[in-house]
Amino acid sequence: MPARKFLASSLELIGNTPLIKLRNVASNTDAEIYVKAEYLNPSGSIKDRIALQMILDAESQGKIKRGKTTIVEASTGNTGIALSYVGTMLGYKVRIYIPEGVSREGKEIMEKYGAEVVIMTKQEEQSLKERSISGGLVEIPGRLKCLEVEKNEKDTFWIRQFSNPSNSIAHEKTGKEILDALDSIDGFTASIGTGGTLLGITRTLRKSNASLKVYAAEPAATKIPLLSQFKQQGKIIRTEVSGGIISDIIEEEIVDKVLKINDQEAVEMAGRLVKEEGLFCGISSGANVYAAIQLAKELGKGSRIVTVLPDSMDRYLSEQHYTT
Ligand SMILES: Cc1ncc(COP(=O)(O)O)c(C=O)c1O
Repeated sequence: MPARKFLASSLELIGNTPLIKLRNVASNTDAEIYVKAEYLNPSGSIKDRIALQMILDAESQGKIKRGKTTIVEASTGNTGIALSYVGTMLGYKVRIYIPEGVSREGKEIMEKYGAEVVIMTKQEEQSLKERSISGGLVEIPGRLKCLEVEKNEKDTFWIRQFSNPSNSIAHEKTGKEILDALDSIDGFTASIGTGGTLLGITRTLRKSNASLKVYAAEPAATKIPLLSQFKQQGKIIRTEVSGGIISDIIEEEIVDKVLKINDQEAVEMAGRLVKEEGLFCGISSGANVYAAIQLAKELGKGSRIVTVLPDSMDRYLSEQHYTT
């Protein structure tokens, strides 16, 4: 059969993003830095990959049914948007719980794709926090809410991005795309939210280079519990609402170093990526490239470092402290 020259649906746009060599912002190193432009996924972020994988896997495991199940998740942005897009396209109802204060655009994009968006009031978050075992973590109240909804409301399914194995499995394919584009890679960096990107891509890249160096970036701009916080606790506690993929990262000893990157460093680098490379990417992209440059300086001449640009700068335009 001749190859199809059109897409059967926009979902086929997910993944296979371009890998782009940086020309300017890394010129103070002798290494090569490549970025995977994940903001070019159809709903605007890397999270389209995991939304599709998590939904298709849950479907094939018989956990959800098109036209019947409501998929619920707590999200401050990209995952909520990606689930709203992919879920609605595949015939699911989608409900996203977001904390008060999330940007207007985020909420409106989810609604435009067809999701129901529930804003959790500060009061509600507080009362859920008080019942949580790790109340300091910003996403925990939303997750507790999802757990409650799943238990009490028929035909609801909490997709559990922070602990769902399909999250990192989606990124094993992202890693394969990187390997298909470059025959040797010496280092990889990624910021951690759920940890799925870092875990999935590293698993694949380490298969071709066991001594691959991996740095995790902890941008202060994200409000999600991070690796060093879990490491400091000294032990890994997995519960229905915490632990998750971050625990896998610690157990599998995936990360060589955790770099703390402050908002200013991340924001400035994102600004440079826009102006000097024409890559209209967001704040965590800035942090990722900042970390890649640190790693490049350590690995030195001729080494090849890869990172990802998870989302687009237009997600942050109404939040001036996130733009230069
Ligand atoms: C913009 C952005 N960058 C980075 C991340 C981290 O990705 P992951 O959840 O795969 O660790 C996320 C999600 O949490 C994100 O929304």
